[in-house]
Amino acid sequence: MRAHYDYQTRKITAPKLTRAKPPVIAIPTTLSAGEFSSAMGITDDATGAKDIFIDPKVVPRAVILDPVMTTATPARLWSSTGIKALHNAVERYYALNANPFIQGLCLEATRNVFRYLKRSVDDSNDLDARGRLQFLNWMTAFGAGKGGIGLGHGICHQLGGVCDVPHGISGCIVLPFMMEFNRPATLEKQRQIAMAMGFEDTAASDEEAAIWAEQQVRGLIASLGLPARLQEVGVKREDLPKVAEMTLRDRTLSPTPRPPRDADEIFTLLERMF
Ligand SMILES: [Fe+2]
Repeated sequence: MRAHYDYQTRKITAPKLTRAKPPVIAIPTTLSAGEFSSAMGITDDATGAKDIFIDPKVVPRAVILDPVMTTATPARLWSSTGIKALHNAVERYYALNANPFIQGLCLEATRNVFRYLKRSVDDSNDLDARGRLQFLNWMTAFGAGKGGIGLGHGICHQLGGVCDVPHGISGCIVLPFMMEFNRPATLEKQRQIAMAMGFEDTAASDEEAAIWAEQQVRGLIASLGLPARLQEVGVKREDLPKVAEMTLRDRTLSPTPRPPRDADEIFTLLERMF
């Protein structure tokens, strides 16, 4: 049985994974944060659905963060997973079940992505920047079981399953649009996010601050040479209805601050991202 999310009742049903798990020691070379998570995504080849399974026993016993191990990571993989860390931080910050502890970590991570990601790409031997990014990446995943993510991650998971787009790359396209979509429900929180990115205009409205934050995110992604549209990464227009349908069942939707009404609303969003 696979994990199932019922978007009408907002209830998640997840299977128990009963077999013994081998102990894992992780030495990550990207900023995906998978090593800090008890969740794993597996694509069902028959349907293209990406299902999320959860078991605390899959979490590594130890994670060794050594920036030297990341210097040979391809730039696009490194920078796009850095944007995934930002995607985690933003979505976890304004998720309905966020708490102040997680939110503090997410704001600090957001601040540091803007400080160090471009620097770490411009010089892959900048171990100070890379090490700081590894720590902020940990911060975006810390206490993951106690906080949620949201619709943006749901869309990324299903773009992975249906269209084979890596999570970091899809996040570059999805995150700015999600900040815009969620804006009516998260204005004050997005002002805090903007302030973490360096917004200082105290006379500006929350909406102006939130729009500024979205523009900063778009600017950072463009400065890294990462994509802004789904058609740039091989997604076909005819895939969009299936992605929308599958996203509605993705369990990450549960704490999303502005729940989509139905698959049509997600499809409309995907068309804008196309
Ligand atoms: Fe995800």
